[in-house]
Amino acid sequence: MNLGFETLGNATLVFYDDQRPVLATDPWLIGTCYFGSWGLDRPLTPAEFDAVRRAGYVWISHGHPDHLHGESLALLSRETKFLLPEHYTGEIAEFVRGQGFPVEVMPYREWRQLSPRLRCLSLDNENQDAILVVEAGDCLILNLNDSPLLGDRRFVRKLVRRYDRKKTYAAALCATDADMLNFVDHEGRRITEPAEHYKPGTVWALARQIDRLGIGTYVCSSSQHTYIRSDSAWANPYRITWADIERHWTRPEVRVLEPFVIVDLQSGEATRKHPSQASDFGQVTNRTGIDNYDERLNETEWTELFDFFRQFETIHRYLDYLDFTVGGEQRRLWINPSSKHKDQSRLRGIGFYAPRHSLCEVVKHGYFDDMMIGNFMKTELHNTTLYPYFTPLVCKLGGTRKSTHGLNGALFGDTIFAGIRLARSTGSCERRPRNSSMLRAGLPTAPG
Ligand SMILES: [Fe+2]
Repeated sequence: MNLGFETLGNATLVFYDDQRPVLATDPWLIGTCYFGSWGLDRPLTPAEFDAVRRAGYVWISHGHPDHLHGESLALLSRETKFLLPEHYTGEIAEFVRGQGFPVEVMPYREWRQLSPRLRCLSLDNENQDAILVVEAGDCLILNLNDSPLLGDRRFVRKLVRRYDRKKTYAAALCATDADMLNFVDHEGRRITEPAEHYKPGTVWALARQIDRLGIGTYVCSSSQHTYIRSDSAWANPYRITWADIERHWTRPEVRVLEPFVIVDLQSGEATRKHPSQASDFGQVTNRTGIDNYDERLNETEWTELFDFFRQFETIHRYLDYLDFTVGGEQRRLWINPSSKHKDQSRLRGIGFYAPRHSLCEVVKHGYFDDMMIGNFMKTELHNTTLYPYFTPLVCKLGGTRKSTHGLNGALFGDTIFAGIRLARSTGSCERRPRNSSMLRAGLPTAPG
C-alpha cells in the first residue's frame, strides 16, 4: 500500500507512506488488560506485528490499559519514538520514558510532520483522553478512539470541511460495554437491561456524530475486545459487533468500514483481512484472573481504600456514602457524614462488590476506572447514577489523582456532555503548577 492505513483491532491503527509503516496508535498486541478481563478480539497476524514494530512513531491516546499496554510496548524497538498528547500531567510520558523510549509531547493543535505525505496533530482533553488527526496526502483521518469531542467539535468540523468528504475518515469507539454495566439490586441480582436495549441508540448516536462532522467514512475501531474472565464473560453479548453496526447504522451518507481492514487512501478501497468477523472466544476462561473473591481486606487496606475515596472533595455534593463488599465483609464510607441521620430511603449511595486484589491495585495506582471498565465488579446504585458526577470526577478527572478538589472538578461533571472546554489556555486550576491542589489537600504528590 502506497499511502493508507490498516486497523488491527481495538484502537490499534498503522499508517503507511510509500509502502512503509510510519505511525502506529495505541498498540495492544498481546495478552489481556483490566485485570485479565479483556482479551483481543482475535490474535494479531505476524504481518500486523511486523508493521507495528517497523513503525518509527507510536502515538498513545490515553492511559487505559487497552491503549497504554505495557506488555505490548515491551515488544517494540527502543528506537521507536513516542508521540504523546499534552495531558494535564506527564504521568504517561514518565512511564514511557521509564521503559526506555524517546518521547515527544505534542503541543495541542500543532501539526507534526512524520513523513513526506503524513502529518498529524493531537487534541488532548479534560477527559484525560485525546484525539489524533492525521493528514495523509489529500485525505484526513480522525482517530477519535474512545474520546469525546468536548470543546474541539467546532475546530474539528472546520478542519474536516477543508477536505473532499470522500477523502475523510473517522475511527471511533462504538460501545456500550466499555464502562460499568454490571448493575445489581440489593440482593446481588443483575438488573442491567438486555443488550438490545443499548445497541440501537449507541450506533445511531455515533452515526449522527460522524455525519454532523461531515466525515465521509466511518472506520470500526477501538471496540474490538472480548471478555474472558468467568465473572466478566457475561458482558460479551453487550459488545457492539459489525453485524450490530450494519443493522443499526442510520446515515447512508456515511460509508461504513468493517473492523480489520486495509485502506488504500489513493483509491479509497478497503480490503478485509479476515474471511469473517467472528471473535476468538477460545480465550474465555473459567477463572477470575488473579482475583479470589474469598479474600478479605486487612485493616490497613480498608484504611487505604477509604482514604483514597475521601480525597475526592468533588463528589461530596452528589453522594452520601459508598459501600464496599469484599470477601463477604461490607463496610460503609460516609462521603457526606452529615447525612448519617437522614432517612435511609433518601440517601444517595453506591455499593461496590469487588475482589480484593484488583481493588487494592486500583487504589494503589489511582485508577478506579479500570475496575469499572473490567465489568467483573458489581455495582448497586441507590438514589443516584454514575453519570454525570461519580464516573467523570473519580474515574476520569480523578484518574491520575490530580484533580480531586476544587472548582474545575465540580464543573467537569456539568460540562463534559455539554461540549464545553474548560479554561484550556487560561491557566485554570488544571494548568496551575502541578500538585498544588494535592498539597493543599494533604495528598501524596507522587504520580499515581
Ligand atoms: Fe478508554
